[in-house]
Amino acid sequence: MIVCVCRGVSDREVRRAVAAGAACLETLERCGIGGDCRGCESMLRDMIVDIAGEENACRTCCAIEESALATA
Ligand code: FES
Repeated sequence: MIVCVCRGVSDREVRRAVAAGAACLETLERCGIGGDCRGCESMLRDMIVDIAGEENACRTCCAIEESALATA
């Protein structure tokens, strides 16, 4: 499934990048994921929490709130 339409990035590619340590929107953007229209940011945030875990999710540039983490 394509997650980031602007960059043509699939959920598999996002999972691979996050699993490799890109648990942050800024880092994903440097990997060529997101950062254009930003329509995929919400899904990317959810995927970061799911894959990297709450303890590793970025709370600064990703603006992941404690309440969002509580629902993950
Ligand atoms: S859909 Fe990802 S930046 Fe536009």
